[in-house]
Amino acid sequence: MEAIKVKEDVYWVGVKDWNLTEFHGYHVSHGSTYNAYLIKDEKIALIDGVKHYLSSENIARIRSVTDFSKIDYIIVNHVELDHSGNIPELVKLAPQATIVTNSAGKMALEAHFDASDWKFQIVKTGETLSLGKRNLTFVTTPLLHWPDSMMSYCPQEKILFSNDGFGQHYCTNTIWAKEANFGIVCDEAKNYYANILFPYGAQAQKALNTANELNLEIEMIAPSHGCIWDGEKEVNWILEHYAKWASGENDGSAVVVYDTMWGATAKLAETITAVFQDAGVPVVKRCLTNAHTSEIMTDILEAKYVAIGTPTLNNELFPRVAAFVTYMKGLAPKGKKGFAFASYGWKPGVVSKIQTVMEELGWQTIAPFDEKYTPKDEVLEKLKEHTKTILD
Ligand code: FEO
Repeated sequence: MEAIKVKEDVYWVGVKDWNLTEFHGYHVSHGSTYNAYLIKDEKIALIDGVKHYLSSENIARIRSVTDFSKIDYIIVNHVELDHSGNIPELVKLAPQATIVTNSAGKMALEAHFDASDWKFQIVKTGETLSLGKRNLTFVTTPLLHWPDSMMSYCPQEKILFSNDGFGQHYCTNTIWAKEANFGIVCDEAKNYYANILFPYGAQAQKALNTANELNLEIEMIAPSHGCIWDGEKEVNWILEHYAKWASGENDGSAVVVYDTMWGATAKLAETITAVFQDAGVPVVKRCLTNAHTSEIMTDILEAKYVAIGTPTLNNELFPRVAAFVTYMKGLAPKGKKGFAFASYGWKPGVVSKIQTVMEELGWQTIAPFDEKYTPKDEVLEKLKEHTKTILD
């Protein structure tokens, strides 16, 4: 396991999690990586750690370019355990190293680990650490997506070490976006934003503004997951898309999400989908029996309309719909137009639980619709007319 050269004396020393399929509820199709970087200058800085169970791979790659006794700094950009899980092991190997992080990072490290004998240097936005010929400038990005989140920028190399920001859960044979399947890199960057950063659009916009204010000239974005964005086309693609996603701008499309027990809710979903189609609105219909919640969140990221339907099971939402609604509520999509619909047997009303979530999210909604048992043709006609009222 050797380090991979990123630039002269700048190395990728990360690890590959080929078999990862799930990341705290987020379904991952192409594994992931936990990227760590090492800069060898007059001082040696290691940027970020990795998940605990891949620590030996990280250590081997670091050892291929330096002895641990020579490491001066361990930069901790983020304390979530996929990046800090092996920090205690790294500190044991390099006890002389100073941990460079922000005040929230120090508090989080102390809450997770016994850090009583660790040496800390606390940094704030705009502060710089000299490594010799190179510097690292820090930009704290609180709540993008944890209070401790931070990015590190090397002006001499024009590299932004962006941690979770601009990342993708994508494990492949190269560390470079331009050498990988660029379509998958872009799709996975969108999935990542939708499932991790969706609630933090304001913080993402602030981070992009801060980068502009500090005049950061960025030629390479080295995130902590997936491929490195290197090259004008690649860097521009991800910066432009983050600006778009953070703005909450929609593309006018619709998503119809539902599950079904005996086909009644499926009929309602089909009718609603047809109304969007006939009106020329790009629409996807997702049944939760087959589609994963996290894939649907990617559909929702740029959608304008979201219709959610459920069967009634023991006077409750159908469990997969309940799980979806809970997951979606946490990711807090804004500015949508919502429509809740349901099927029931003997007690109506469960649809109000979906309606309430839509209202809590501040969505514009039309009146919810529910129907007893299998909807007849005249009911579907009524549903068609009602669905049309959501259209602009
Ligand atoms: Fe990749 Fe927030 O951890």
